[in-house]
Amino acid sequence: MNVLKTVFVLLAGVMLAAYTRPATQPPDHTYMRMDTTKKDTETGLVMDQSLYLVKAQCTQCHSSKLIVQNRFTRDGWKQKIRWMQANHNLWDLGETEKPVLDYLEKHYGPTTAHARRAPLKDIKWYKLESVQPQ
Ligand code: HEC
Repeated sequence: MNVLKTVFVLLAGVMLAAYTRPATQPPDHTYMRMDTTKKDTETGLVMDQSLYLVKAQCTQCHSSKLIVQNRFTRDGWKQKIRWMQANHNLWDLGETEKPVLDYLEKHYGPTTAHARRAPLKDIKWYKLESVQPQ
């Protein structure tokens, strides 16, 4: 008799659990980094007050993808510009060079959110103690 009782209680418990299970939750996406920067639909470049300058100076010869895909420091961008000026007939950017570099450094620098995080520094390594079951 006792066995039957136990079985009944167990069954009731299982059924109750089945009925009271919460409805499926919408998937939790908060772990994904939300990219809230606005992008220019034509070029995919980040919207900013200097965007028009960058579009005018940097998308005449090649796709903006070359910019979007890259992450350089300000100096790195400057070197790319010098390299294009030396080898690919890029003109002197004149007064627009500074705002163009500001833009590139701000949105396509190595520390921009969508780049990889910097390598870890000052890691304190420790020895694992052997874990014994208590
Ligand atoms: C006069 C033409 C011209 C203009 C204007 C121009 N580029 Fe370029 N750029 C090139 C050429 C040519 C290449 C080489 C393309 C290739 O390798 O397929 C290049 C390559 C690049 C690359 C890739 C470099 C690499 O190491 O792979 C980047 C980044 C780039 N350009 C950024 C810019 C930026 C930023 C501007 C605006 C300041 C700009 N470009 C304006 C001609 C130009």
